Amino acid sequence: MIICICRAVSDRQIRAVVSQGAHSMAQVRAELGTGGCCGKCTRQVRELIEEHSAAQQCGQAVGAACACALAA
Ligand code: FES
Repeated sequence: MIICICRAVSDRQIRAVVSQGAHSMAQVRAELGTGGCCGKCTRQVRELIEEHSAAQQCGQAVGAACACALAA
């Protein structure tokens, strides 16, 4: 699914760069350009970063439903 319409960036691309070490909005923006135009994708990008962080903390696979992530 396309998250950033301005840059044609998908959730898969965002998850990939987050998995490779981009753990902030600035880092994801540097890699993919998300949020650098209209900024409407910022909330969704942040959610994907937080999802990855929560998954790492409890050991769940990224994208898997996790009670830890839901409680946060
Ligand atoms: S939708 Fe991402 S910058 Fe516009």
